[in-house]
Amino acid sequence: MTDAKKSIHGEWSSRSAFILAATGSAVGLGNIWKFPYITGENGGGAFVIVYLLCVALIGIPIMIAETMLGRRGRENPVHTMQVLSKEAEADKRWHYLGWLGMTGGLLILSYYSVIAGWASAYVFKAFFGSFFGADVTAIETLFRDFIGSPMQLIFWHTLFMMATMLIVARGVDNGLEKSVRILMPSLFILLTLLVMYAMTTSGYFQGIHFLFNLDFNKLTGNSLLIAMGQAFFSLGLGMGCVMVYGAYLPKNISIAKASIVIATVDSLVALLAGIIIFPIVFTHELNPSSGPGLIFETLPIAFGSMTGGWLFGVLFFVILVFAALSSAIALIEPTVCWLVESKGVTRERACLQSGLVTWVLGFGTIFSFNLWSDVKFFGLTFFEVLDYLTANIMLPIGGLAIAVFAGWMMKQQHSRQELDMPDPQHYQIWLFLIKYIAPAAVFLVFLHVMGAL
Ligand code: PFF
Repeated sequence: MTDAKKSIHGEWSSRSAFILAATGSAVGLGNIWKFPYITGENGGGAFVIVYLLCVALIGIPIMIAETMLGRRGRENPVHTMQVLSKEAEADKRWHYLGWLGMTGGLLILSYYSVIAGWASAYVFKAFFGSFFGADVTAIETLFRDFIGSPMQLIFWHTLFMMATMLIVARGVDNGLEKSVRILMPSLFILLTLLVMYAMTTSGYFQGIHFLFNLDFNKLTGNSLLIAMGQAFFSLGLGMGCVMVYGAYLPKNISIAKASIVIATVDSLVALLAGIIIFPIVFTHELNPSSGPGLIFETLPIAFGSMTGGWLFGVLFFVILVFAALSSAIALIEPTVCWLVESKGVTRERACLQSGLVTWVLGFGTIFSFNLWSDVKFFGLTFFEVLDYLTANIMLPIGGLAIAVFAGWMMKQQHSRQELDMPDPQHYQIWLFLIKYIAPAAVFLVFLHVMGAL
């Protein structure tokens, strides 16, 4: 049915372009900022193993499914689900999955942009030598003063949102594709150099021990949910982002192979970030469970005292901002795609409208760190509520729905045709994972957290 159909937004020019863009969406603050601090808060090694298991058994099969749905539907997530549920003769309400994704994407972007704003500010702090010779207390004070200032956070959040809107307005091939071609390889080179630095620190082995030591006693039910949520967050699943990227994917590209490459690179970047950060944490006797400020309070110490630290510092934060940008454009793309396709507005206007909504929402996160730091809902700040709601609830529900649709609703002849795996056994493995393992795992983790297990 969809063979001749192409997305009106254009297509990726090649397999590598798609892999780069999807890796760009996957690799971001989730890997470098979030993975280390939640690993720190959840006790280290055992959490990392659960996280990697979630990536392999739940994340990869769902990534394959989400890309496949996107490519078959070729439109924004809402329309794609409408088209596909009709084809599958399933309930029309499946299109709500598209709405869930688009809403979640904008909610995530609203706080993602604030944190990316911190990284942008740190590029300048690094450039003007703020870390030079600074000790632990000075770096902590620098960070606290910074997040305590709403005006500064608003400034950087605004700048980051404007950059995101500008790139997205330029379209699939010009905006998205070009930016990731340079960013991803540079990120890898820099991370490797920083790993080499971490190996020279006195806390290296302690850091590695923390990251890979399996102490399951430290793992709570909530840690399981957080590990699973992080797998979804880091791979960028369940929000329709992978679905729209799939909609721009030419027919002849193997979705399964591409998904495995993307998930592997994504996990590698997260592990590399951990291998860099924890040795520095232990060398300077810092607290690994200090929360969202972790990388901003640890890495500057290293940059301030190592040879070449000025250059490394500037480059690191520049690359972090770019990695965040390539994820931010993925977060906003489903809504932009929907506005263009169903409301008939221009791409520029669609970016402006969705960007404005996100920008305003971002103020809630900004104030969570200063003016509203005492305003709590169920003991959590606005930012923490948003993060918990999106990563631990909306993304897994979105992922669960994708798994159920692809595994149970869609006709097997269609998924088999779309995935076109050369070895029929590979298709059977995927089908088993998507039908039984992924939905059961998500469901069990939810039950466990609700105290029913
Ligand atoms: N995967 C991105 C990261 O790890 O930073 C963030 C993200 C992108 C989350 C796209 C969700 C999403 F749909």
